[in-house]
Amino acid sequence: MTPMPHAPTPAFLYGTAWKEDRTASLTELALRAGFRGIDTANQRRHYLEGGVGEALSVAYSSGVVTRQDVFLQTKFTYQRGQDHRLPYDPSANLADQVAQSLASSLEHLAADHVDSYVLHGPWSNYGWTEADTEVWEAMQKERDTGRTHLLGVSNVSLGHLEQMKAAGAEMPAFVQNRCFARLGWDRDVRSFCREHKIIYQGFSLLTANPEVLEHVPFIELAKSLSATPAQVVFAFPRAVGILPLTGTSSAEHMKQDLAGLELTLPADLVKAIECMAG
Ligand SMILES: NC(=O)c1ccc[n+]([C@@H]2O[C@H](COP(=O)([O-])OP(=O)(O)OC[C@H]3O[C@@H](n4cnc5c(N)ncnc54)[C@H](OP(=O)(O)O)[C@@H]3O)[C@@H](O)[C@H]2O)c1
Repeated sequence: MTPMPHAPTPAFLYGTAWKEDRTASLTELALRAGFRGIDTANQRRHYLEGGVGEALSVAYSSGVVTRQDVFLQTKFTYQRGQDHRLPYDPSANLADQVAQSLASSLEHLAADHVDSYVLHGPWSNYGWTEADTEVWEAMQKERDTGRTHLLGVSNVSLGHLEQMKAAGAEMPAFVQNRCFARLGWDRDVRSFCREHKIIYQGFSLLTANPEVLEHVPFIELAKSLSATPAQVVFAFPRAVGILPLTGTSSAEHMKQDLAGLELTLPADLVKAIECMAG
C-alpha cells in the first residue's frame, strides 16, 4: 500500500493554548482563515486538545481542509507540567506515559498520526537527564510505528541540545522556544538549529517583546511598509528561518498575521531587527 503523503511543514502555526471552551470555534476559524498548521498539547491545564479535534472534524466535513492539508503538532508533558487532569497513569513508567499520552492525543484529534510530536520541556532546566532519554527514546518508537511523522523538543537551552548531541541522541526535527528579542531572538539556540538542520519554531514573538513593538522607529518602519508592527514581528522571524506561532483569538488578527506572509523585509533591515534588543 502506498503510504499517505504527510502534511508539509507550514509557514505559520496556529497555537491553541489558553482558549478553553473557545478552542473549537477559534481553531475552526483559523483553518477557515487559511492556517494549515496547528499546535496543541495533551496538557489540559493550558490546552483543550479535544476542542482541536472538534474543529478538525467540522473543517473536514465542510470541505475546508483534508487531513493531508493540515500539519498537526502535539506534545508530551511531564506530570510536573500538568494539573490533576493527566492523559496517562502517573504510576506507569515514562515510556508507557508517552505511549498513553500520544494514544489519548490521537483520540482527541480523531487522527491515526500527528505530523510532529514534541517533548514539551525537559525534566530539568539544567540539563538533559536520564528521564529525558527514556522519553525521547519512547517518542522515537512512536515515530517508528507511524503515530508521528517527526519529533521535536520545546523549552530547551543550548546546553540541553549540546548534551543531547553529546549523548548520541537523535537530533529533533523541531525546536520550539519562547523567542526573546533581548536574547538576539534566541540566537545561540537558533544557530545550533541551523547547523543541525533543525527547524526552529518561535512562540511569544509579540508578548515576549514589548520593547520591540513599542519602539517608535519600529512603529515608523511598519508604517513605511504599510504593515502593522505585529506583521513586521512575524515577517522578521521568517526572514531568519524561524517558523512563527500565533495564538490570536481575533479574526482580524488572523487575517493580518497571514497577510504578513507576503511581507518581505530588506536584508539590511533584517540584520538591524536581529540586533535591535540584544
Ligand atoms: N511550548 C510551549 O511551552 C509553549 C508556551 C507558550 C505558547 N506555546 C504555543 O504558542 C502559541 C502562541 O502563544 P504565544 O505565547 O505566542 O501567545 P499568543 O497566545 O499568540 O498571544 C499573542 C498575543 O498577541 C496578540 N496578537 C496576535 N496577533 C496580533 C496582531 N496581528 N496584532 C496585534 N496583536 C496580536 C493576541 O491578541 P488577540 O488575541 O487579540 O489577537 C495575544 O494577546 C500558543 O497557543 C501555543 O500553541 C507553546
